[in-house]
Amino acid sequence: MTVRFDDISIETLREAGGVKWSHFPGKVGAFIAEMDFGTAPAIVRALHAAVDEATFGYLPRPLAERMSQACADWCHTRYGWDIPPANVRPLADVIAGLVAAIEHFSRPGSPIIVPTPAYMPFLVVPRELGREIIQVPLVAGRDGRWSYDLDALDAAFRAGGHLMILCNPHNPVGRVLTRAEMIAIAEVVERYGGRVFADEIHAPLVFPGHRHVPYASISPATAGHAVTATSASKAWNLPGLKCAQLILSNEADLETWSAVGAMAEHGASTLGVVANIAAFTAGGEWLDELLGYLDGSRALLGDLLAEHLPEVGYAQPEGTYLAWLDCRQLGLGDRPAEFFLDRAGVAMTDGELCGAAGRGFVRYTFATPRPIMRQSIEAMARALARHRTA
Ligand SMILES: Cc1ncc(COP(=O)(O)O)c(C=O)c1O
Repeated sequence: MTVRFDDISIETLREAGGVKWSHFPGKVGAFIAEMDFGTAPAIVRALHAAVDEATFGYLPRPLAERMSQACADWCHTRYGWDIPPANVRPLADVIAGLVAAIEHFSRPGSPIIVPTPAYMPFLVVPRELGREIIQVPLVAGRDGRWSYDLDALDAAFRAGGHLMILCNPHNPVGRVLTRAEMIAIAEVVERYGGRVFADEIHAPLVFPGHRHVPYASISPATAGHAVTATSASKAWNLPGLKCAQLILSNEADLETWSAVGAMAEHGASTLGVVANIAAFTAGGEWLDELLGYLDGSRALLGDLLAEHLPEVGYAQPEGTYLAWLDCRQLGLGDRPAEFFLDRAGVAMTDGELCGAAGRGFVRYTFATPRPIMRQSIEAMARALARHRTA
């Protein structure tokens, strides 16, 4: 696997023409959360078979039910979470789940609580739905490890926020929350009768030494106030296939969903459902090998930064393939991504897009062959050196 992934070249990736490699022509693509490794062979086979049979109609109920079962089985074997398959509902994507959660499970008109830095659409979607956002900055410890500020969270609920977005594993900071951390968060939510949209799209991407605990699985209280969304789309690289899962964990939400959920479920694509079934039932081995590679890459990234860009702050992510790089000591101002795009030819996500707490940071997607990672970090170091001697 290592060799095979290492051998993928920039030329091959550019020719394939994915967003990561075509949006900024000629640059190294490290911005969007996609991987350069294709997907699991079992998924490709399942899709080929579906194409051969022209499985292009509206989503048949038995296929949707197979997906629900496959996702529930995955949650059971990988996370020890037992959920009735009927609680797992198809969606086009996780953001459709967020829209549904805001519209149907949050108090009408209430502000949305977004811990920041955050996945960028969390700061866009609520506003598009006419909601205010209360940003609650995470706090970084001395070791660069991020955690939730419970007092600030309490203040956000006290100020009228009702639904909080809890992203775990976290994009962009890479934290995988412990059970104890989530129990503490849940206490605050319960204090105010709040709700949680648990975005667990990165759940399969957790590194050794950490474990994904589904938020809704923790207690009757979290099951009662959470709505969970996940998908095979990040871990198996399938976002263009448009399929995700909304996981409901209490009777009241199931009843609401049965009345309002049909149109959101209608967005799931049939081939996406085929791919998600294959991922959850036959994609485990590929995923485990991938995680082994990414585990090595997150360590290598630390070595490369220490060698070439020692002033950049980096705490190895516990999950995801996203690195959250603190560039505030580089003297590049508030938009370091702009500098590295123009001067080093490396396209990353500017931290400020993740909220005010992200100013001075960049998000670097390291799901790329290691030679490309090395090349991009070296290019960034050279650009910085040129800038300093100019
Ligand atoms: C935390 C998080 N949520 C949601 C998404 C988007 O998922 P989807 O394409 O299923 O809407 C992403 C994509 O990177 C993500 O990182």
